[in-house]
Amino acid sequence: MNKKWWKESIVYQIYPRSFKDSNGDGIGDLQGIIEKLDYLKDLGVDVVWLSPVYKSPNDDNGYDISDYQDIMNDFGTMADFDELLELAHSKGIKIVMDLVVNHTSDEHRWFVESRKSKDNLYRDYYIWRDGKDGKEPNNWGSWFGGSAWEYDEATQMYYLHIFSKKQPDLNWDNPRVRQEIFDMMTWWLDKGIDGFRMDVISLISKSPELPDGETKGGIYGDLAEFCIHGPCVHEYLKEMNEKVLSKYNIMTVGEATGVTIEEAKKYAGYNRGELDTVFQFEHMDLTNGEFGKWNNKKFSLLDLKKIIDRWQKGLEGEAWNCLFWSNHDQPRAVSRFGDDSDEFREISAKMLGTCLHMLKGTPYIYQGEELGMTNVKFASLDDYRDIETLNAFRELTNTRGIAPEIMMDYIYHVSRDNARTPMQWDNTENAGFTIGTPWIGVNPNYEKINVKAQMNDPYSVFSYYKKLIHLRHEHPIIVYGDYEMLVPQDERVFAYTRKLENKRLLVVCNFTKTSMEFEMPDDFVHSNSKILVSNYATTDFGDCIVLRPYEARVYLKEEKVPIVPDVMVAFELCR
Ligand code: GLC
Ligand code: CA
Repeated sequence: MNKKWWKESIVYQIYPRSFKDSNGDGIGDLQGIIEKLDYLKDLGVDVVWLSPVYKSPNDDNGYDISDYQDIMNDFGTMADFDELLELAHSKGIKIVMDLVVNHTSDEHRWFVESRKSKDNLYRDYYIWRDGKDGKEPNNWGSWFGGSAWEYDEATQMYYLHIFSKKQPDLNWDNPRVRQEIFDMMTWWLDKGIDGFRMDVISLISKSPELPDGETKGGIYGDLAEFCIHGPCVHEYLKEMNEKVLSKYNIMTVGEATGVTIEEAKKYAGYNRGELDTVFQFEHMDLTNGEFGKWNNKKFSLLDLKKIIDRWQKGLEGEAWNCLFWSNHDQPRAVSRFGDDSDEFREISAKMLGTCLHMLKGTPYIYQGEELGMTNVKFASLDDYRDIETLNAFRELTNTRGIAPEIMMDYIYHVSRDNARTPMQWDNTENAGFTIGTPWIGVNPNYEKINVKAQMNDPYSVFSYYKKLIHLRHEHPIIVYGDYEMLVPQDERVFAYTRKLENKRLLVVCNFTKTSMEFEMPDDFVHSNSKILVSNYATTDFGDCIVLRPYEARVYLKEEKVPIVPDVMVAFELCR
């Protein structure tokens, strides 16, 4: 058992713009986070991942950085940051920073120089190409809509931007670029931060020929094949590890867009000397289709189970999983995987929490998930702020024949702004997020769903999450136990066991709003097992239990004699 502090931690993601505004300008900020450190302490999380707080013109809410060693004006100053870091540490909370180094802002000093002339010292910091027959260098489409190339008048060449045109891609093949980034990372680590979440790190190395991509029915070609897990990505991460990461006791998690299990083992295999962990997105992409993520489909539990099972088993003994239902780019967990109706929101949010937090890996909680916050439906496109959403609306309604009402429905299902409405602190105006006008509307359900209403209610989603976090800290089996899936073909129940030394854990989750019978595995029946946590009151220990709508139960069993491996029994649902 290869023990690490980051395997035993629970991470809480803060999207600073939407967390807490301290000065009434309607934008969350560092002093706002400081105000809420005791809230995080009470929840019990070990680590906070801060989405970017660096200087930025905010084309993509801070994921377009114009100075890596300064703080965004909206968020405060470096002194505020230092205060946050010190206070968080004094409360036993670690701080992990977002590291966005696939691209910078076009307002970054390097790019301002780079675009000046072909022989500028910084020219080669970015990816410049001549046009072809009066058009872009190739047919790649940007992930935020339009071409991935922008023509620049000054030198009459194009630069590559996988994201918005204000996010030019850095040229990682240039050793000076790598050294600048490594120096900057060292500077932050010397300040005492506890690690990095690395934004789209799987994109940093591009196939040098930059060939056209497949068009798949659209105007633009797909760049994925030539930019994801490119030829030198592992070489560069090894170099980063050797020169920077290996010198500190930190945690790293790479946002590895497009990653497979085999590839994940290269990025984060125990002895690879690259990253500690990666985020995989297969379970986020379950409903993707013709228009990428844009649709209103419901996921299938069988597909979800298959993916999670594959990752749990696939990394066993070789790398460590990250567990998450949502983040700042995804819809709200309860709206997507649970049921956000009045009747089932709380119970299904608790069920989802149980299902995720009992798995093997490091759990991530996205701000508000611990309250069961939901997706939002703003009446008009004007209420949306996200550049990806706005560009997709334009492109899909103009060029792909999607009716605006249908596109709005897609937005209600998957827009990133679902996750970005302000954190709901109380039932006063604007949910207690700001005394000013919030930069994006508050979800009108804040009067019901908010921290104040849940903090002291032992039956709230918040209290339930607190319990899940506490259990992980108390029971090594939840961190290190072996995982095994039960009833893999069941379309309604997600059930699995964990095993460590003489202990066994059984996790059973009903993903539907109907009651059903579930046959208990033989060795949990009539035995000395007890319920560790459950989202309904229950004392049901029969052979066949009745699971109520969205019911989740976790049983713990302690054997007198250690269990020999291989005595797993086959289980079937009762008829
Ligand atoms: C990552 C971030 C996302 C951002 C993109 C470009 O996917 O999570 O928010 O827009 O990278 O930086
Ligand atoms: Ca503010």
